[in-house]
Amino acid sequence: MPIAPKRHAPLAMTEEQFRTLGHRLVEQLAGLLAAIPDGPVTPGETPAQVRAALGLDGPLPEQGADPGVLLERTASHLFAHSLFNGHPKFLGYITASPAPIAILADLMAAAANPNCGAFVLSPAATEIERQAIRWIAEFIGYPGDCGGIMVSGGNMANITCFFAARAAHAGHDVRAQGIAAGRGTMRVYASAETHTWISKAADLSGIGTQAIRWIAADARQRIDLAALKAQVTADRAAGDRPFMVVGTGGSVSTGAVDDLPALAAFCTQEGLWFHVDGAYGAIAAASSEAPDDLRALALADSVAVDPHKWLYMPLEAGCALVRDANKLRDAFSYHPPYYHLDEEYLNYVDMGPQNSRGFRALKVWLALQHAGAAGYRTMIGDDIRLSQRLADAVRAHADFEWYTQDLSITTFRYVPADLRARLGAPDVEAHLDALNRELLDSSQKSGEAFVSNAVIGERYLLRACIVNFNTQAADIDALPGILARQGCAIDQRMRPAALQAAR
Ligand SMILES: Cc1ncc(COP(=O)(O)O)c(C=O)c1O
Repeated sequence: MPIAPKRHAPLAMTEEQFRTLGHRLVEQLAGLLAAIPDGPVTPGETPAQVRAALGLDGPLPEQGADPGVLLERTASHLFAHSLFNGHPKFLGYITASPAPIAILADLMAAAANPNCGAFVLSPAATEIERQAIRWIAEFIGYPGDCGGIMVSGGNMANITCFFAARAAHAGHDVRAQGIAAGRGTMRVYASAETHTWISKAADLSGIGTQAIRWIAADARQRIDLAALKAQVTADRAAGDRPFMVVGTGGSVSTGAVDDLPALAAFCTQEGLWFHVDGAYGAIAAASSEAPDDLRALALADSVAVDPHKWLYMPLEAGCALVRDANKLRDAFSYHPPYYHLDEEYLNYVDMGPQNSRGFRALKVWLALQHAGAAGYRTMIGDDIRLSQRLADAVRAHADFEWYTQDLSITTFRYVPADLRARLGAPDVEAHLDALNRELLDSSQKSGEAFVSNAVIGERYLLRACIVNFNTQAADIDALPGILARQGCAIDQRMRPAALQAAR
């Protein structure tokens, strides 16, 4: 069929249509966002309930539909059936409240739609990304002239740095020859508290998860330095090739910060790549509330940062920083004949695993300017102080046992007051374990407040993490009461007969 002189594209909109629908959507979203604090954190529905409510079981429609109706209906459905990490009582995992300016920035980025793989395809966006990365680095005390790239999140930021370390320290051309060409097993060292990204990195990179040396953590969940040193010495003696040590700047479970100054000194002495997983905590290095050890991330060969955590970005935004920009290029660049790129310019395709790339940097760049460095320090400091306030409240409450407070994470468990005297007894511990698992599950579904869990030693704990500028002191003050009320009801239902007498 010949193409019509004036093409009809079913996806196209007139300027007027776009303006009208956009205004209407922003209007609707402003109301929905403002209403979040008054509703549940989550509706706590099952997958089947969600599919039924949104009508998700039907076939792809053959014919198109009115975009205004689609947008309006989808926005109300989304907000009726979502979990809101921007809810003041969302304190689970490490997912931030999204900065409103960043929500608008994502719209703007999609409208301009630069392909941030190459300067020629994204002139303004590439240079904005360069500045955003420099600002992040300088904000946390890392050299501003480092290499860096925006990625999807903390996992990819760490994995990107891992590949830079692997290429730099393999001792042979590992990118061309593969891992098997080298002599001895390549070894990476990390504490047992390290996030699961390291397993994915070892797996994807071909060194294999068995190459990871999991070093025990001490009583404060920090890497045991003596054990690390002994393991590196033993591995060298066995003919292995230690190449990388991972320090964690804010662990996922408890917010523990490894002894980064000591790790940096050890890596220098041993000629090892020193990486800091700062996905959660690195941004807090800018705050005087954070422990001094965190600031030694400035000595690392690479640092993973995660703006969709403590820079309060909507998902997705991660950032890999590598001290020597050439090491990033050496790990990722190729020059195929079908690209015509000016090598004098910054082409992000050379700095990471992605080819075509979206404009993740815009929201970060705008939010950093909206709040300014001082504004960010205030919000991060407030989050940490609220977490300390929660730890105080939990310690003072008869029905909770407090465990840890680091950065903005507090861990604790529900212990009915009458069982406190018998802590450690196997039947009591078994009940507490089951009770806290059930409390976590049902409190999450209740929508009243949302915490997640940690496991320390054998203990199953509740865990509240505050990377949420919407959370107020009143939300924190209400949390122990909410959990104690729910915990009491579950205890009454679940307590084994043998423990009833303790009541
Ligand atoms: C310390 C740490 N590293 C890495 C990650 C992974 O980050 P993401 O979920 O953004 O991929 C997390 C996530 O919580 C984390 O806490």
